[in-house]
Amino acid sequence: MKTGDSQSSQLDELESAQKDPQLIPDGLFIVFEGIDGTGKSTQLHLLAERLRQLGYAVVATREPTNGPYGQKIRELFVDRGAVSQEEELELFIADRDQHVKEIIAPALSDGCVVICDRYYLSTVAYQGANGMDQDLILKKNEDFPVPDLAIILEIEPAHGIHRIRNQRHEHPNTFEEEANLQKVAGIFSAMQQDYIERINGSDSIENVHRFVFGAVAKVLAQKATQQVES
Ligand code: TMP
Repeated sequence: MKTGDSQSSQLDELESAQKDPQLIPDGLFIVFEGIDGTGKSTQLHLLAERLRQLGYAVVATREPTNGPYGQKIRELFVDRGAVSQEEELELFIADRDQHVKEIIAPALSDGCVVICDRYYLSTVAYQGANGMDQDLILKKNEDFPVPDLAIILEIEPAHGIHRIRNQRHEHPNTFEEEANLQKVAGIFSAMQQDYIERINGSDSIENVHRFVFGAVAKVLAQKATQQVES
């Protein structure tokens, strides 16, 4: 086949993939986790774009959401002391409940790849670091869909804070202070769920993306095998 033919056939394939998205029975649920400043959002967008180009229907979303509970949570970034630890936890759970019901569960049952920037492992790590019992946090999250893959991007807390200040030109908020992030990082590093994949977030954006995509390709292949077997 001539190069021109092969290019036009690739374009035809891409176009038809875009017209008829590749749907996955029960969807695929991927979450990005880690402390602040690891590059989660950048990696989420790179992954979403690559999967869309491959023809998947992708829903990219995040927590806290922009809904009413998410907005209350964002007010806490300025004054965390405004609510008790228990109330803070309940706000994250209420935000997630609405997010799952309105966005995540419908998209998964439509066969989409849902990619979420933070989910319940963030609650275990951040509200755990804030003094709440980690088993209690997991219990409060047990009715929500379990991710097929949780990518924890790992980075030294000081490096994360440096990135927040220098790349985002922001001041770390009260969740992002170094002593707090050390505790949060310690909890993330002790997690043992079998759907967790750890990736070094201090590598280049391109290398991190290669590892992320490798992990995603593995779960996509597992899903395809399960489909054939069932
Ligand atoms: P981000 O939008 O920059 O990721 O900020 C969200 C902040 O909210 C981040 O500091 C982590 C925190 N957070 C929790 O404390 N608990 C949670 O369950 C979630 C989803 C986020």
